[in-house]
Amino acid sequence: MCGIIGIISQTNVSERLLDGLKRLEYRGYDSAGIATLFDGHSIDRRRAEGKLENLIALVGRNPLEGTIGIGHTRWATHGHVTENNAHPMANTIVSVVHNGIIENFATLKEALQAKGCVFTSDTDTEVVMHLVSEAIKEGFSPLAAVQHTLTIVKGAFALAFIFSDHPDLLIAARKGSPLVLGITENELFVGSDAIALAPWVRTVCYLEEGDIAALTVKDGKSNVIILNESGATVQRPFRQTNITTDSISKGDYTHYMLKEIFEQPQTISDTVQSLISLEDTSFHAPLLAIPTTFDHIRIIACGTSFYAGYVAKYWFEKWAHIRTEVEIASEFRYRSPVFDGKTLNIFISQSGETIDTLSALLLVKSKNEPTIAIVNVPESSIAREADLVIQTMVGPEIGVASTKAFTAQLAILATLCLKFAKDKQTIAPDEWKHYFESLIHIPSVISELLRNDDVYQQLATHIYHVQHALYLGRGLNFPIALEGALKLKEISYIHAEGYPAGELKHGPIALIDHTMPVIVLAPDDEWFDKTLSNIQEILVRGAKVIVFTSKEGADKIAKQTKGIPCLGVVILPKTNSFTTPLLYTVPLQLLAYYTAYAKGTDVDQPRNLAKSVTVE
Ligand code: M6R
Repeated sequence: MCGIIGIISQTNVSERLLDGLKRLEYRGYDSAGIATLFDGHSIDRRRAEGKLENLIALVGRNPLEGTIGIGHTRWATHGHVTENNAHPMANTIVSVVHNGIIENFATLKEALQAKGCVFTSDTDTEVVMHLVSEAIKEGFSPLAAVQHTLTIVKGAFALAFIFSDHPDLLIAARKGSPLVLGITENELFVGSDAIALAPWVRTVCYLEEGDIAALTVKDGKSNVIILNESGATVQRPFRQTNITTDSISKGDYTHYMLKEIFEQPQTISDTVQSLISLEDTSFHAPLLAIPTTFDHIRIIACGTSFYAGYVAKYWFEKWAHIRTEVEIASEFRYRSPVFDGKTLNIFISQSGETIDTLSALLLVKSKNEPTIAIVNVPESSIAREADLVIQTMVGPEIGVASTKAFTAQLAILATLCLKFAKDKQTIAPDEWKHYFESLIHIPSVISELLRNDDVYQQLATHIYHVQHALYLGRGLNFPIALEGALKLKEISYIHAEGYPAGELKHGPIALIDHTMPVIVLAPDDEWFDKTLSNIQEILVRGAKVIVFTSKEGADKIAKQTKGIPCLGVVILPKTNSFTTPLLYTVPLQLLAYYTAYAKGTDVDQPRNLAKSVTVE
């Protein structure tokens, strides 16, 4: 949510601010703005509602000068999506951009208004602007004013400030939301992530919780001072980033999402091979550091990551005989869960910044239970807090709808299942080897599937205009049905629900008529015959049925549903039931993608969605 960029240079920065914002678009936003110091003294800004194009056009018509500036993409929390509520907030003393929420803003606003401050927006951010400028008016230096303000505001946030009459000073602060500094000899940058800074820097420095950084460029020399929460000067490690503009380019694909779907054979393979040796099946660190003394497992996550956890429940219980609970983070943290000290807790998050998952992790830590994070961003807050981190090796995921991160999460959880099963000897060595080989082989099976993606384009022409769709699956593929429905909802705005096929008669069958597409996952596994009965039940009620199955499954379906054809029976390569969730995910991603494409929605940046959900 919200993206921050800041630059101090010796040349005009407005174009690069806009360029940086372009790379932050994927985070989700509904308005944008930039501010610079005009003539090195006065703050000037441009803001626009809607897509970045509007801001770019505005700056084109009315350019902004200045060698220091900040920029922002806003995902509205307090106040409607209007130009007035867009950041940067600015008065004649300071300009600020903000990601996160100031929780005590209402009380602070009242007090500031009583003092005579005039508010021009409905945002919580404006409180920060007034607190800082009031402190400066009282004689505080800009740095002291920011420090003072941060002792007053409560909440989780990232902030960047510029100050009138200080053409060489940019201040950034982190508490709860990530900020990274980009460092060169004669220019300095701040961004919500390293992707924003990719073309300009190789050396980056991640701020820690409570840090305030004063960035200056004087006489062509850059300097960074970082103060920790108690005000002491600290050194934070500088590291080299491998995020380049190439690694975040769309290549020849129409959308990032399609590119990321097609990257999956590689990303699954990279992820599995980061954890297990293909030669001797030995496990690599960090799997070796996982505690062995626990009675059961609790998996906590949100959205798509939750569905990855849900598949793992089936894996861990069936093959490793470990009782496993799966929890939606926003529910878990607000009920009164029971902690027995014998639970291994696994947190799954692509971004590593999801506020509910992070808060649930902090809660579990406070109860002294062991924690593992499965994340795609190793510098993220969740990664920093967990006892042990396992990284999905997929590179940046830019499409808001998660695809390659999900299958990499599944790959990690499947590998973990193999590890637990080996440690506990819950399956015979031959069976173990069979599952291990099928996991190693699954990337090439997915590559084979991806060679026939025109079938999904065809199917999409039949469903892109519908209002609703049902997804059915059983066993390991029930969570995949949930994930398929979420993908369709997110990017095509078609209302879709995932159900266990066995639940059909307990309610959802009432929805079935000739307008309802029903997408059924029916691998030829131990649940196939039961799912086939469900297919017959919905076919006779006139639904448009699309079935994903194997060759054997398709033959059985053809035999038993004579005379009532399905809209489509898509034959997927054969695999065993252990790896079906990885395989059956991909057609649902493609179906959602081509449906959204046919409908003409904004596939990579669907309305209202944010890539990392950093506020509740
Ligand atoms: O970054 P996280 O994995 O913690 O994000 C959790 C959800 O917000 C995320 O999976 C969301 O459901 C995606 N938009 C799914 O495509």
